[in-house]
Amino acid sequence: MKKILITGGAGFIGSHVVRRFVNRYPNYQIYNLDALTYAGNLENITDIENAPHYTFVKGDITDADFIHALFEKHRFDGVLHLAAESHVDRSITDPLAFVKTNVIGTMNLLNAAKAIWKDNFEGKRFYHISTDEVYGSLGATGLFTETTPYDPNSPYSASKASSDHFVRAYGETYGLPYVITNCSNNYGPNHFPEKLIPLFINNIINNKPLPVYGDGKYTRDWLFVEDHAVAIDLVFHEGKNHETYNIGGFNEWQNIDLVKLLCQQMDKKLGRADGESAKLITYVKDRPGHDLRYAIDASKINKELGWEPSVTFEQGLEKTIDWYLANEAWLKNVTSGDYQKYYEQQYDKQQS
Ligand code: NAD
Ligand code: TYD
Repeated sequence: MKKILITGGAGFIGSHVVRRFVNRYPNYQIYNLDALTYAGNLENITDIENAPHYTFVKGDITDADFIHALFEKHRFDGVLHLAAESHVDRSITDPLAFVKTNVIGTMNLLNAAKAIWKDNFEGKRFYHISTDEVYGSLGATGLFTETTPYDPNSPYSASKASSDHFVRAYGETYGLPYVITNCSNNYGPNHFPEKLIPLFINNIINNKPLPVYGDGKYTRDWLFVEDHAVAIDLVFHEGKNHETYNIGGFNEWQNIDLVKLLCQQMDKKLGRADGESAKLITYVKDRPGHDLRYAIDASKINKELGWEPSVTFEQGLEKTIDWYLANEAWLKNVTSGDYQKYYEQQYDKQQS
């Protein structure tokens, strides 16, 4: 029986990946390693927690001895590495936390895999889940391809670029079999309300201002999280070693247009008059070093592995809104306590 380690499986994307793997692969022994930081939440995966081939391990990837011992004990055949500090705004206030988890944490996993697998890499795979933000910012035109040079601008993207480089370096230097994917912005159920879409959904529900950074003309390419999980499954099983695949939604939106669409859909769901939620839109001070535009050319994964998104943005957004409205308790839990402090620091104190 293959043993698979998924890191960060209590987080947003990780929880969808863990669920998919547990449900689809009863022949794998699946270990979910997560430190349960503010972003990790076991409530995201209660439906699979009792599966016989699934084990949750609470632990920190920055602890090298712990990681080595875990690999020695279980001798994993495959690693899907998603654990990370993932929010750009937090990386601006605390960059070192991003170096620790995203760079050192990834190094610890690489070192443990290398030590346990030694030179016998047959059937082994280290899969690093990364972001398109490593490529930096696009102007008005063009798309990121797998050969676009790395040019990260935020401490978050610099830390992810660094970890991508180390994964590649371990492949080139030690022959470690790896794959990397660089994906565009995800959205969907279980998204922590620090990112644009879930933060705005929560604020609309609570009739709070919607803080649009700068002029709102920044552009992102949005992908429904379950489509990302399908792509990850496909790349883990069918991707080629030592290759990178870009994953994206073919779905660019300027922030302000996205926010207006979200407001329209929320008005309908909440039975509010059309235009009611849009009144909450408030332009606030811009994010420092704000990347203008991200857009992915996902033709490689489409041509080589046959992947494409399954839902339109309108459908995905509706599913997302429905999930938040049906999971009020989840939203209340994650927005109490520390979240209030974060919100105050990030929005009430800093923005003008
Ligand atoms: P998230 O912040 O929702 O979840 C991160 C998870 O990692 C949490 O469960 C957290 O508890 C865990 N974690 C953090 N530090 C840890 C540590 N030191 N040890 C063990 N676990 C730790 O993040 P996400 O949005 O689900 O992103 C998952 C991965 O996908 C990240 O590597 C991110 O860079 C990448 N990614 C995210 C997006 C996106 O739009 N969210 C897009 C492309 C790539
Ligand atoms: P975010 O969800 O933080 O993802 P990323 O920075 O990784 O792309 O932000 C998406 C876009 O929305 C980005 O251009 C910043 C903008 N944004 C706001 O305008 N207001 C907000 O409160 C947040 C969180 C983001």
